[in-house]
Amino acid sequence: MEIKVDLSKSGLTMEEIRQKKLEINTALERLWSGKETFTGWVKLPLQQDKNEMERILNVSDIIRQQCELFIVIGIGGSYLGAKAAIDALGKAPDAPEVKFAGINLSATYHARLLEEMAAKEVCLCVISKSGTTVETTAAFNIFKEALIKKYGKAEAVKRIYAITDAENGALREETEREGYTSFVIPSDIGGRYSVLTPVGLLPIAVAGADIRSLMEGAEVMAASPDWDFDGPDYAAARYLLLQKGKSVEAIQHYEPDLKYFVEWIKQLFGESEGKEGTGLFPAGLELTADLHSMGQFLQQGSPIFFETVLNIEQSPVDLTVPEGPLKGKTMTQLNRAAMKGVIEAHSSAGTPVIRIDIPKLDAFYYGQLIYFFETTCAVTAMLMGVNPFDQPGVEAYKKEMKKEI
Ligand code: PA5
Repeated sequence: MEIKVDLSKSGLTMEEIRQKKLEINTALERLWSGKETFTGWVKLPLQQDKNEMERILNVSDIIRQQCELFIVIGIGGSYLGAKAAIDALGKAPDAPEVKFAGINLSATYHARLLEEMAAKEVCLCVISKSGTTVETTAAFNIFKEALIKKYGKAEAVKRIYAITDAENGALREETEREGYTSFVIPSDIGGRYSVLTPVGLLPIAVAGADIRSLMEGAEVMAASPDWDFDGPDYAAARYLLLQKGKSVEAIQHYEPDLKYFVEWIKQLFGESEGKEGTGLFPAGLELTADLHSMGQFLQQGSPIFFETVLNIEQSPVDLTVPEGPLKGKTMTQLNRAAMKGVIEAHSSAGTPVIRIDIPKLDAFYYGQLIYFFETTCAVTAMLMGVNPFDQPGVEAYKKEMKKEI
């Protein structure tokens, strides 16, 4: 069983895909050469530090004993990977609830979380590679003050975990000064490619998912010598569709647990490709819900997009309709029928559709998916001629925002 890409409804020919393979191989060689900056994530699953993994698991055990509510403070690449994985893989019954702060600047959102914090045993985990992000800095200082009020300084320090750069930034400085338990974000891995570092692994482990299995999945994919999965086909298809005038990729899923996985993909693709006047705009759609709001546009609207469908092949549970015209049908049957029907209707109307078949949603396949999308993203960006690992636009707005503060 493996992740498969079905291009039969993409409107592309196998010859077109094949012709792109040469460029893709060059991009892959660049990624694996070790000479490109910020490509530390490429070999990460193959060069796992077993001691680091042990330490993450030990610390996650301590956190699970310390608290009922684990508040992770970070934004963008310092948040989405963990949030997406925890939603997709679920929380163990005995694990603390994991909630996120610093993901916006809403006083209402954070005041509600502070109220919740008052009634529960709490730990904080602050995550920032730069250590200077406004949202994270504001939220961390607000929650730290509340934590100190609740427990006193000495106990609060034992309940603060920091994940940041090894040397640079205000957060590293504070971590060393105060003595927080901390982990390092490797300097050669950028925020949106960091989910398989402690940035993602610690919160995911606290929620109770099997992070060893997650890493094994990523390792299987990374170990495939010539990237012998269907990733190159997906990368080639995305690039070719952009060249044919499609500027939006409507990424669709039929399982609400994948909502934040799509958010994670949106960040990965959007920040890696959207520069120098190029890139595919990644949009997310939750089906069948969004068929009842966006179905009309998808069928007959402005033809600026193609669709990428995430298809989870096995559902861990099923339900049967007991009465009425659908009596005897299972939800999974109906969900599958919806997906097939929608793909048929949209592709017949001329919209290219790519389907990605994922055997099931467990930690092992989730690890594969992370690596699959990270590699596809980096390769497509290279085909587009842009640097997948910088984000000059993000830096630009951050600078302007700081002037306003
Ligand atoms: O992918 C990225 O680099 C960004 O989305 C960052 O993760 C985000 O801006 C947060 O930055 P930091 O981790 O430095 O607080």
